Amino acid sequence: MQLPYSSAPSFPLILAPMAGVSEPPFRQICRAMGADVVLSEFLSSEAIRRRIRNTLEGAEFEEIERPIGIQIYGADPNAMAEAAALITEHYRPEFIDINFGCPVKKVVRRNGGSGCLRDLDLVDRIIRAVVGATHLPVTVKTRSGWDDERRDPVAIALRMQDAGARAFTLHARTRTQMFAGRANWDEIARVVDALDIPVIGNGDVTTASDIVRMRNHTGCAGIMVGRGAFGNPWLFRDGQALLAGLPLPPAPGAGERFAVALDHARLALRLQGEGRKTVVEFRKHLGWYTRGLHGASELRQRLFQIESIAEVESIFLQYLEPVAQVA
Ligand SMILES: Cc1cc2nc3c(=O)[nH]c(=O)nc-3n(C[C@H](O)[C@H](O)[C@H](O)COP(=O)(O)O)c2cc1C
Repeated sequence: MQLPYSSAPSFPLILAPMAGVSEPPFRQICRAMGADVVLSEFLSSEAIRRRIRNTLEGAEFEEIERPIGIQIYGADPNAMAEAAALITEHYRPEFIDINFGCPVKKVVRRNGGSGCLRDLDLVDRIIRAVVGATHLPVTVKTRSGWDDERRDPVAIALRMQDAGARAFTLHARTRTQMFAGRANWDEIARVVDALDIPVIGNGDVTTASDIVRMRNHTGCAGIMVGRGAFGNPWLFRDGQALLAGLPLPPAPGAGERFAVALDHARLALRLQGEGRKTVVEFRKHLGWYTRGLHGASELRQRLFQIESIAEVESIFLQYLEPVAQVA
């Protein structure tokens, strides 16, 4: 089943919205590696409505990132509608996604994110308000429920579909689970059976074979990958290969990982500014790119102290030197 915008591929692999990670540089790296669709990190509708600069910057993207969805959250249908209208007019993404999944206390306290799952009438009003405020397709992303007692993803999904959602992404955990336990892929399968709109599966996909397993297990219309892509945008390349019936490409060696990490870092400097903040925030990506390498912990200790990307280049070169001599 196709996603509700014309440029969507038939079985999309989607980079999950992730605050502090799914920013333009990483989105561009993942698109180049085979992610078909990307989303912005979640943006507060109240902050958009008040034109808070930092939040509005979170809605910016470059053409190369399309197709892209901008994700908004909030518990006030009017603010959500206003935010959707502004995003539609000024940023023109392919779609607008509503976050009903965020488990963070600061957000749910005011009924934002997964907080809404305690009140499906409110969910209904929010979706209708957003749908009424934009000509773009409106999609939703949610968890399986608030807690185990109120875990009913099919009822939640039907309600969201009725309110006008054009695609439904399920991270098959409850809010109270946060990230503990395993995502329940059976629930994704049940929602696929119950809905007419496309269902995107999400949760615990960390390898290319997981992508194929989730598709076969659930019959979902596409797959969203979050943490599995940390330092591993090759997951999209590998997933695309397996989905096309091709053999798994060889895993990237240290040299290739470093080259992509540096491309990513240069994008961060260009798109997020050349200041110290960009460099410091990039350290986490360096930790992820070097995971599993021989001597990774020592390498990471050095990378976590860098103050410039030039330093990263020289650390990488030093690491590769003995290998080059042996070869
Ligand atoms: C650091 C981090 C930030 C996240 N930020 C968002 C967000 O802004 N919006 C959202 O809908 N989900 C967010 N999530 C949830 C992910 O999109 C995804 O649903 C979840 O990580 C499960 O998928 P995974 O097992 O592939 O990581 C975030 C997750 C992480 C780890």
